[in-house]
Amino acid sequence: MKNLTIIDHPLVKRDLTVLRDKRTPSNTFRGVLRRTASLMAYEVTRDLVVQRVGVTTPLEKTTGCVVKESIILVPILRAGLGLVGGFVEVLPAARVGHIGIYRDEETLRPVDYYLKLPKRLGQALVLLLDPMLATGGSAVAAATFLKKKGARKIRFVSLVAAPEGVGNLMKAHPDVKIYTCALDRELNGKGYILPGLGDAGDRMFGTE
Ligand code: PRP
Ligand code: URA
Repeated sequence: MKNLTIIDHPLVKRDLTVLRDKRTPSNTFRGVLRRTASLMAYEVTRDLVVQRVGVTTPLEKTTGCVVKESIILVPILRAGLGLVGGFVEVLPAARVGHIGIYRDEETLRPVDYYLKLPKRLGQALVLLLDPMLATGGSAVAAATFLKKKGARKIRFVSLVAAPEGVGNLMKAHPDVKIYTCALDRELNGKGYILPGLGDAGDRMFGTE
């Protein structure tokens, strides 16, 4: 599928197995998710624009490069927070906005409750972070908010996606590139991804 990248590096697959395991405690879940996020960041930023610069080693002059592109990370609260640490580790200059959206448990429709974004969204590569892409309702709503605020180049980064969510996000925002570590089988009757990893926010924060 055009615009869908599956990040299937062996180290990512290994970490995802730990995250899927229902016996993994919250503390381990948070640590492994953070590490996985750094691995994902490599793939998501593979085509970043860099500028050549001169650098002097202890022995001679040579050329190196610096990243010129402005990057804004936008986690969808709560679970998206779990990806921020791993991304800023490899993108220390990134600015961070926040979008608060939760899924109504009955209707599965997204409910928004918070929005705080850095300035100059339109000139940045905006990485929208959420480990779960289920129905796609939260992702579609978040991308719509970002565009209303001026974002023009958005990538959606998730750990596990359902075919329904990928389809809905692609339909609503065909310009948004989607990255995920696994395209799972389907959603169950309550909108949970199968096989999935359960409720990402609850597993991360121990609120189940
Ligand atoms: C989860 C997840 C996504 C959303 C995905 O959040 O982190 O934001 O569900 O589902 P969707 O694709 O069907 O919209 P949740 O609503 O559980 O909120 P939380 O992160 O605060 O727990
Ligand atoms: N949100 C989650 O956290 N997990 C799912 O499987 C679906 C939505």
